[in-house]
Amino acid sequence: MERIEGLDQLRRRIAEWRRDGRRIAFVPTMGNLHPGHIALVQEARTHAGSVVASIFVNPLQFGPNEDLAAYPRTPERDAEMLAEAGCDLLFAPGVETMYPRGQADQTRVEVPGISNLLCGASRPGHFSGVATVVCKLFNMVQPDLALFGEKDFQQLLVIRRLVEDLDMPIEIRGVATVREADGLAMSSRNGYLSPGERLIAPELYRVLKAAGTALAQGVAAAQVEQEGMRALSAAGFRPDYVSVRRVSDLAAPSRTDRDLVVLAAAYLGKARLIDNIRVMSAAPASDPQSNDCGSCDK
Ligand code: PAJ
Repeated sequence: MERIEGLDQLRRRIAEWRRDGRRIAFVPTMGNLHPGHIALVQEARTHAGSVVASIFVNPLQFGPNEDLAAYPRTPERDAEMLAEAGCDLLFAPGVETMYPRGQADQTRVEVPGISNLLCGASRPGHFSGVATVVCKLFNMVQPDLALFGEKDFQQLLVIRRLVEDLDMPIEIRGVATVREADGLAMSSRNGYLSPGERLIAPELYRVLKAAGTALAQGVAAAQVEQEGMRALSAAGFRPDYVSVRRVSDLAAPSRTDRDLVVLAAAYLGKARLIDNIRVMSAAPASDPQSNDCGSCDK
């Protein structure tokens, strides 16, 4: 696997691959890789002749009181894992390559509406930072296809909207969340958990599964959300939100919307954990087309 830090060198390699007619898949990350990231690379491998991953801890998407300085950095191990997963090129730019004019003077990309809900409401500017860096990385790598985890469901929808609104010829694929054996969604931030907190952490997924079951049985969204918040507090979390939304745009669901997602964010000690679960809600009693598949964890 080739490792590149500079933009000129990256552009030369990409141009060469383009001349050879290779299809290019791209997996952007912030490093400290785990099997969730690797699943994206493996999926990328099946869709393209060349796979590029990037590692860049993007300061633009961290708030002033967030964990930018503490964010775990494990570059050597990351490179080994990527090479083993079949990645062809690791692009690991420095901050001066990404933001040569400094962060304050950087042109920004805003995806309105969806960026301000849920995690966007709790983390002002976060999704603008994500959209900006992903837009820049797309222009640098010029992939045919880019892969993002469904674990960060709101991020995936922000990126889909970005690509649609700016007419970027890039296919966006979502990849299912990779979990620990006890159900906890893998995340670089799980490393912040103390041994005691690590035992509590899988409760987040259990609460989401219970919410999914309740929705599939026809319990009202507001009641499901309230019970989820209560259960997370009782388990020892400081919940930010438990929210039932429409899959397509994260709007509050109407009575006829059935393809739903329950999203949650909660603090456990220093860690802010997020997770979500897809659900087919119960059809309204009057719906003769009812073909309920129950709760599905996709
Ligand atoms: P990072 O948190 O490193 O995640 C990189 C990619 O891995 C994202 O698409 C994320 O959704 C995916 N991912 C993380 N944990 C996963 C899991 N358990 N299962 C499946 N996929 C998982 O997300 C970012 O970085 C950044 O915001 C980035 C998009 C790179 C922009 O800076």
